[in-house]
Amino acid sequence: MVKVVVCGAAGGIGQPLSLLLKQSDLISHLALYDIVNAPGVAADLSHINTASKVTGHVGKDALAEALSGAHTVVIPAGVPRKPGMTRDDLFKVNAGIVRDLAEACAQCCPKAFILEPCQLDCAYCVRGL
Ligand SMILES: NC(=O)c1ccc[n+]([C@@H]2O[C@H](COP(=O)([O-])OP(=O)(O)OC[C@H]3O[C@@H](n4cnc5c(N)ncnc54)[C@H](O)[C@@H]3O)[C@@H](O)[C@H]2O)c1
Repeated sequence: MVKVVVCGAAGGIGQPLSLLLKQSDLISHLALYDIVNAPGVAADLSHINTASKVTGHVGKDALAEALSGAHTVVIPAGVPRKPGMTRDDLFKVNAGIVRDLAEACAQCCPKAFILEPCQLDCAYCVRGL
């Protein structure tokens, strides 16, 4: 059983990423986590006729359940840069989000691979572990 979790699955990157992961026969459980809308995205993807089960988990209270038993966690969660926001401002906000998710991974799935493809916040993942 290979469980993959997408944190930030309802976002502009998270949704197409989850769609691509749903095509893979290597994944048996795709868990979609976000602070909004994850169950809806999961319902949509569950109609695709591939082997993996899809579950949706919304809000901090559902994070442990989403991460439990994960083999791989992909983190496209974050906030896009808004007008007037410097890269430093953006980093501060997104680093906090990634730090919290990495700490939850350290507690719930300490052996999981964590992929954080959208930011430069990898140091927070390493520190969380
Ligand atoms: N480096 C780059 O070139 C590049 C390019 C595009 C996007 N990005 C970054 O990637 C991230 C995602 O981009 P996007 O376009 O998908 O943004 P988006 O706003 O469409 O999606 C982000 C998702 O993350 C979710 N989210 C926010 N806080 C969360 C938390 N604590 N836990 C779980 N989910 C949370 C939001 O609800 C949203 O669904 C952003 O931080 C953006 O800055 C980087």
